This record gives sequence, C-alpha cells and structure tokens, in this order.
Amino acid sequence: MEEAPGSVRSVLMIVALSVHLGLCRGDPRITEVRLLCTEPRVNGSIVPDFAEVMREISVNVTSRGWGKSYLNSTVPPLYGLAQCHGDLNATDCLLCYAASRTRVPRCLPRPGRLYLDGCFIRYDEYEFYNETVDPVNDMVNCADANVTDQGGGGSMFANRVEMVLRNVTGKALAVRDRVGEEDMFGVDGIEGAYALAQCWSTLSLEQCKTCLRNASSLVKSCLPRAEGRAMNAGCFVRYSNQKFYSIPNGRGSLKLGTAIAVSLAAIAVASLLVVAAFLGYRTYSRAKQLRKGLLRLPTTVTKSNLYFKYETLEKATNFFDEKRKLGQGGAGSVYKGTLMNGKVVAVKRLVFNTRQWVDDFFNEVDLISGIQHKNLVSLLGCSIEGPESLLVYEYVPNGSLDQALFGEAKRKLTWEERIGIITGTAEGIAYLHGDCGIRIIHRDIKASNILLDKDLMAKVADFGLARCVAQDKSHLTTGIAGTLGYMAPEYLVRGQLTEKADVYAFGVLVLEIMSGRNSSVVAHGSFSLLQSVWMHHQSDDLISCVDPALWGEFPAVEAANVLRIGLLCAQASPKLRPSMSQVVRMLQDNGGEHPVPSPGQPPFLSPGCTQSFYETGMSSNTSNHTWGSQLQASGASSNGSL
Ligand SMILES: *[C@@H]1O[C@H](CO)[C@@H](O)[C@H](O)[C@H]1NC(C)=O
Ligand SMILES: *[C@@H]1O[C@H](CO)[C@@H](O)[C@H](O)[C@H]1NC(C)=O
Ligand SMILES: *[C@@H]1O[C@H](CO)[C@@H](O)[C@H](O)[C@H]1NC(C)=O
Ligand SMILES: *[C@@H]1O[C@H](CO)[C@@H](O)[C@H](O)[C@H]1NC(C)=O
Ligand SMILES: *[C@@H]1O[C@H](CO)[C@@H](O)[C@H](O)[C@H]1NC(C)=O
Ligand SMILES: *[C@@H]1O[C@H](CO)[C@@H](O)[C@H](O)[C@H]1NC(C)=O
Ligand SMILES: *[C@@H]1O[C@H](CO)[C@@H](O)[C@H](O)[C@H]1NC(C)=O
Ligand SMILES: *[C@@H]1O[C@H](CO)[C@@H](O)[C@H](O)[C@H]1NC(C)=O
Repeated sequence: MEEAPGSVRSVLMIVALSVHLGLCRGDPRITEVRLLCTEPRVNGSIVPDFAEVMREISVNVTSRGWGKSYLNSTVPPLYGLAQCHGDLNATDCLLCYAASRTRVPRCLPRPGRLYLDGCFIRYDEYEFYNETVDPVNDMVNCADANVTDQGGGGSMFANRVEMVLRNVTGKALAVRDRVGEEDMFGVDGIEGAYALAQCWSTLSLEQCKTCLRNASSLVKSCLPRAEGRAMNAGCFVRYSNQKFYSIPNGRGSLKLGTAIAVSLAAIAVASLLVVAAFLGYRTYSRAKQLRKGLLRLPTTVTKSNLYFKYETLEKATNFFDEKRKLGQGGAGSVYKGTLMNGKVVAVKRLVFNTRQWVDDFFNEVDLISGIQHKNLVSLLGCSIEGPESLLVYEYVPNGSLDQALFGEAKRKLTWEERIGIITGTAEGIAYLHGDCGIRIIHRDIKASNILLDKDLMAKVADFGLARCVAQDKSHLTTGIAGTLGYMAPEYLVRGQLTEKADVYAFGVLVLEIMSGRNSSVVAHGSFSLLQSVWMHHQSDDLISCVDPALWGEFPAVEAANVLRIGLLCAQASPKLRPSMSQVVRMLQDNGGEHPVPSPGQPPFLSPGCTQSFYETGMSSNTSNHTWGSQLQASGASSNGSL
C-alpha cells in the first residue's frame, strides 16, 4: 500500500532532477559495455599502488586522449592503461576517463578492464601493453534487436556493415602515416551502417592490424543484429545502424591549445584540468604542482585551505566500499571514511558525468565553505584534482531523521528530543536565510536531510541544491528541484522560489516529527498527514495528532502550539507563512507571553493530489474527487496573494 506513492514520488523526483540537471544525452559515451575482472597471477596486493598509477595516467589522458603508467618496483608490479576513442573531444574524454576510473576499482584487488562506449581502462600485474587478442577474455557483445528491413533486406545491411568495417580498419591503419601520431582510429558510415575501430596506442601498427582483423571478423558474427561490439585485449570495434560517434574532429580539439580555448568556454573543472595539464606538459615544476593538487580554485576554497587528495579519500573509504555507504542523495552518494589520523568523515561523491554536476559542485564548495553553525553540517574540504569531485563533511554519527522516525531501526524519540530537533533545524535554516550575511534557500528540506549527532542535535545537510539569492526578492527558477510532499505549492506549480518554500517544507517536517507519520505515504482510504492534522486543527483537537509512540508523555499545551507552528508554516499562501526567525522565536517562547497565532489556511495540496496536478502539466485538475474543489479554491486564493 505504501509502495505506490513512494515509487510515483521517486519517478517524479527523477523527472524533476533531470529537468534541473539538463538531460545528458549528448554527453560522453560512458555507457558501460563490459567490466572484466581477471584472476591475479601473483599473490600480493595491488590496491596500494592503484591510485598512484591512475593519477599518472590521468595527466596524459587529459593532454592527449590516452595514457599508460606502471610501477614495476613493487610486488606485484602494476601496469595501467587508459584510452579514449579518437572522436571524443578533450572534455568528453576527460569525463569518460573519470567515469571509467571510478568504476574499474570494483575489481580490486583483482586485475580489471572496463570497456565503456567512449573509452577503455585496464590495470594488471604484468605488462600487457602489446597484447592484441586474448583467446580467453576477448568477447563480442551483440544487440538483441535485428535490423529492421527497409525493403533492402538484412543482407544489404550486412553488406554495408562489411564495407564500413573494411573502411574503418583501413582508416585506423592509415592515420599514423598521415598525422604521425599513435592514433589508430577510424569511423565511417554508409547509408544506415556505421562503424568505429580503435586500437590502444601502445600497439605497433602491425599489432593493431592483427587485432582489428580479428575483432572485425568477430563482430560480423553479430549480423543481422542491429549492433555489435568486439572487445579485444588490444582494440575495440563497433558497428551499428545508428550513428553513435561524433564527427571526428575530436583529436583536433585534443591538441593542447585548442583544447584549452574550447574547454575554457565549456566548463569550469574540465578546463581547469586541461589548463593544469597544459602547464604540467610545458614545465616539469608545474607538473609537480599539479600532482600535489595545487590547482587554481575559487578563492574561498584556496583561502580556507580545504584540500584533500583524491587518493587519501579513496583509501579512507576503502575505494568507496559499498559497505561504507551512508546514503544516496540527489547530488551523489555518501560514504563513511576514516582518515590516516583516525578522524572519521563523510565523503560525498559527485561523479561529474554531466557538465551540470561541475557547476553544482562549485556552487556547493563556494557556498558552504564559509558557513559554520552548530545546526548545519560543516564542510571539511574537497577534492577536485582526481577523476571525480568529492566533498568531505563532518561525520554525523546518528544517521538521518527519516531513519529515526520512519526507518526499520526506528529509535524512540522522546518529547524533549523531538523539540530539540525541531528547534535546532529551525535555527539552522534561519541561519541560512540571512543570519550568515547571505541569503541561501536550501530548496530540499526534508527528514532525510536532517542528520542527528551523538546528542541527537539536528544538523541540516545537503546544500547541493542550494543557491545564493542576491538582491532578487523572488525569482523564477529554471528547473524545479526538491522533494515532492515537501514542496511549497507556489514553487511546485510556478517554480517561484523564496525562503518561504523552505518554511513550507519545514512546516511539513514539524508535522512529521510531532506525529511520527511520513507525509509522503498515504494508505488507501485514509487521509494524508497534512489533511488529517488540518482536520484536527479545525475540530480543535490537535493533541490527538501527536505520535502515539510517546504514550501521552508530553505537555499538551506546548504540543498543540508546536503543531500549530507547523500548520502556520505550511499555509498555502507564502505571504501568510512566518519567516524562519519568527519561527525560532515562537519555538523558544513556547508557552510564554506570545501565543501562537491560529493558522488560517490549510496546506494547499495533499501528496496524492500534488502528483496528478504535476502530471497534467500543472493545469488545474478537477478530476481528483476528494481535493478537486479545494485545490481550485486554494489555487485561486494563492493566485490572489502571489
Ligand atoms: C597465494 O597464497 C595462498 C595462501 O596464502 C596460496 O594458497 C596460493 O597458492 C597462492 N597463489 C599463488 C598464485 O601464489
Ligand atoms: C605522460 O605524462 C608524463 C607526465 O606525467 C610525461 O612526462 C610523459 O612524457 C607523458 N608520456 C608521453 C608518452 O608523452
Ligand atoms: C621496470 O621497468 C623498466 C623500464 O621498462 C626496466 O628497465 C626495469 O628493469 C624494470 N624493473 C623491474 C624490476 O622489472
Ligand atoms: C610483446 O609481445 C611479444 C609477444 O608477442 C613478447 O615476446 C614481448 O616480450 C612483448 N614485448 C614487451 C615489451 O612486453
Ligand atoms: C581471434 O583471435 C582468437 C585468439 O587468438 C582466435 O581464437 C580466433 O579464432 C580469432 N578469430 C578470428 C575470426 O580471427
Ligand atoms: C534475429 O534473427 C535471427 C536469425 O536471422 C533469429 O534467430 C533471431 O531470433 C532474431 N532475433 C530477434 C530479436 O528478432
Ligand atoms: C570507404 O567507403 C566509401 C563509400 O562510402 C568508398 O567509396 C571508399 O572507397 C571506402 N574507402 C576505403 C578505404 O575502403
Ligand atoms: C564535446 O563533444 C560533445 C558531444 O559531441 C559536445 O556536446 C561538446 O560541446 C563538445 N565540447 C567541446 C568543448 O567541444
């Protein structure tokens, strides 16, 4: 019963997020085709050397699209190779490498190779650089679908595929003569048949020929399937009925000057790394600086000196071990890490496989590195010189509020603990809303974003969606981010964002904490949390909303006041909601001389209704029997007040 609203909610959440982040279809070809972990030949651990070798490689991948590096003084030795396909430009190559670099360690401590659609990465204990075919591990991957005959018949397609495969092989083997680079790559397409061939640049031309011959005949075994990929030890061949490659001016833009010029315009981090690589390429001392991670960063970050090395964090989290995963948020997954000095931290992993992530990352670092408050999770540092961006936060030991309230390992929160959490959260948000000198709208206040420290003090987390709002009183956001059920009606429907959207979400949160009920879960035939609290308010019986798990052990007048504050905050019209600093005063003054005013408006939308409202393109929806009339009425009233 509880599944349906949850799953609809998460689907909508994904929709909302994709809108927010921009769909990333034109992005680097990071689809995983094959991860292969092989058995080690030697006993011993390659884990400690892994990060070192990969870091060396990343410099060369950034500057020219491929790199190799090895440590052969260790036991066992470790050899690494990474290569982008020739049609990726510098930016996409870097992003593909970053994705492969973070996924291939899943094999550790065994050797691994990973074929993505745009790049290849491998590490092993022996020197495999001149391997062409591997009878044990090479494989072909064929699509399920056959090519749809368009009059010509499947054999026509097969003929064309054979021709383009011949063509791309020819191009891959010819390029070296033309350009004088180790660029054994070719793409071609004829009338609905497209192909790509790529040898790893460590092969000789003769070895490349061996590999491509083998791989093209292997991949032909896929015909008449619409698509096939041959993954050999030394090369990659793919054909498809869809054009899957870019116009191969990619190598051109990998030439350093161009790469810098273009990337600077494109995105912040990638260009930073390219520039860094360029400098490193030019002068050795600069290269050494790069390895130390001394990149140019926003001054707020450099000043605060918050650097962590990627390898340090990788080790601290045991290569992002699933067992150390604390949670998965909209902006990335979070892992528990133990630093060398024993300090425990939370590491948030922002895999920047879309360009938008990069911006989000800088926003986050820029924004929160200066903010310190007892009720806000503090940022300890970041890492950007590695293959992905990481944020390091203080570790908050007691998990999140939603686990405490609704999770399987529910803890019994007492009245005092609940009030403490509500007050702390209010203070944290009030601080974001202006006490720190800048206006920050959190946008995603919800139970899973409130963490509890060892004394169960609330700490507001995840500023991933936060944006600094300068002078604008209110502005329209380009994409809607946030969690349904907590989203203020004016934000949900019109994308209008002010602090009052946070106040609304806080109001919902208060009602959840007081009642022990999840606002986004509505059992069939019963009322949503907001509906039922509002009804009890109207019948002057708020006390019966309080969580039965408290067994009546709470002061009745105060409890009713706190619930009333929750309702005040969640009123449909933003104007009627109090500010967070007013809320803090009301909470601190609970039972004192200033009585809590009575909320005049119901919460605007129930979660069930919100969904249908959202799905029908945000037009008013009268088909919802229970709430149709109220929705229109409230819609009108909020129209008037906006
Ligand atoms: C690796 O070590 C284990 C025991 O430590 C041993 O049983 C095994 O034979 C060794 N394998 C190789 C390849 O040396
Ligand atoms: C790879 O990068 C290193 C710098 O880390 C550089 O010294 C080396 O020359 C590069 N390799 C090649 C083959 O260019
Ligand atoms: C390591 O590699 C270098 C260069 O390939 C070679 O000269 C050296 O002998 C190797 N060392 C070991 C221990 O294999
Ligand atoms: C390259 O491959 C050949 C076998 O094809 C092998 O004998 C040789 O040692 C390899 N070269 C290197 C440098 O590993
Ligand atoms: C490709 O190479 C493998 C390994 O040497 C071999 O078994 C296979 O027959 C070759 N396939 C073709 C089509 O050449
Ligand atoms: C594709 O065609 C082959 C024979 O040409 C047939 O065996 C297979 O079932 C077809 N696959 C699909 C998905 O239609
Ligand atoms: C590549 O394909 C074209 C047809 O699009 C053909 O005319 C040309 O001869 C082919 N080139 C090679 C090297 O096979
Ligand atoms: C790189 O290629 C992608 C996809 O082809 C494109 O969207 C992007 O704008 C390109 N970036 C640069 C810097 O050229």
